[in-house]
Amino acid sequence: MKKNILVGQSGGPTAVINASLYGIIKEAAAHSEQIGSVYGMINGIEGFLSGHIMDLSKELSDEDLELLRLTPAAYLGSCRYKLPENLDASVYTLLFEKFEQLNIGAVFYIGGNDSMDTADKLSRWAAHNNKEISFIGVPKTIDNDIYGTDMTFGFYSAVNIASDAIDCIHTTASSHNRVFIVEVMGHKVGWLTLNAGMAGGADIILLPEIPYDIDKVIEKIEDRDKKGCRFTIIAVAEGAISREDAALTKKDYKKKMEKYPFPSVSYEVAAQIQEKTGREVRVTVPGHMQRGGSPCPYDRVFASRLGSEAGKLILDNQYGFMVGYKNREIVRVPLEDVAGKLKTVDPDATIVQEAKLLGICFGD
Ligand code: F6P
Repeated sequence: MKKNILVGQSGGPTAVINASLYGIIKEAAAHSEQIGSVYGMINGIEGFLSGHIMDLSKELSDEDLELLRLTPAAYLGSCRYKLPENLDASVYTLLFEKFEQLNIGAVFYIGGNDSMDTADKLSRWAAHNNKEISFIGVPKTIDNDIYGTDMTFGFYSAVNIASDAIDCIHTTASSHNRVFIVEVMGHKVGWLTLNAGMAGGADIILLPEIPYDIDKVIEKIEDRDKKGCRFTIIAVAEGAISREDAALTKKDYKKKMEKYPFPSVSYEVAAQIQEKTGREVRVTVPGHMQRGGSPCPYDRVFASRLGSEAGKLILDNQYGFMVGYKNREIVRVPLEDVAGKLKTVDPDATIVQEAKLLGICFGD
């Protein structure tokens, strides 16, 4: 008997998230002898739990589908919902009852780290309870922090926007002899800031993986000044941390953050530079703009490839995998090797060394 499939999108959207949804639907349609309907969760697993679903096979015309491929954001809507660690929790039984009511054979979950964690937990629950439903993760995040894949889609589109922001700041920074800080997203990792900072021509890049010393940052600004460069642009990752803070215990850091007087780390860096040098400092935060706009060609192709490869997993009866990208090849990575891990920037990576050779300061 034919089984149906279910797709959900979760976490922060990207400019390109729907291309993978398109890939999955197309792959399913091409194998209609094995696959029945394609259902979509409205607002991820959280919406699904409340009964919000749609039948994508019936409700989307071929034309809608073609347009979907090029439409940014999460067509199905998203959620930030973490399943409990305890697999005995009643929510799992409830979810599987719902999967069975819809005769679901495979669930695709498109999202970031928390989404891979969701897919992994559901996959483990299915294995422990002898349920023949496969769970497949599709890695989407502008942060590019998912373990087991060299790349996530949405990343390069976000790099474009953040580098454009840094590029544009050059005009006013150079006219007013100011120090400018551009805060870049990325959650706890620095991939986006590192790439956007290098592409946009930042003079200083501060990453969570390389705790900064504010005196080194100031040294660089003054050194540029001496050399006749009248402005400095600093790309600061939203998760950047000072050496002093990185040395605190988790408890002490949490305590400090309870009384933190700044909206984010960039404003703290700005205040310190202003206080120690008397220079004018401005902060720009492109924020959620980094998740929108027009997806870049690389991301469009990559997301479509991952979506269609994800579709193939069901035909090959492969359970519990994330589709990923390693050494220029699309690969299948066991979800258990991905969940709960973070892909961070190695401070000794060649890209960091190369950036340093180009004169970029990391505040270390
Ligand atoms: O995970 C993507 C991301 O954009 C991070 O870079 C950022 O920290 C977070 O989402 C912001 O989340 P929210 O949309 O909940 O503000």
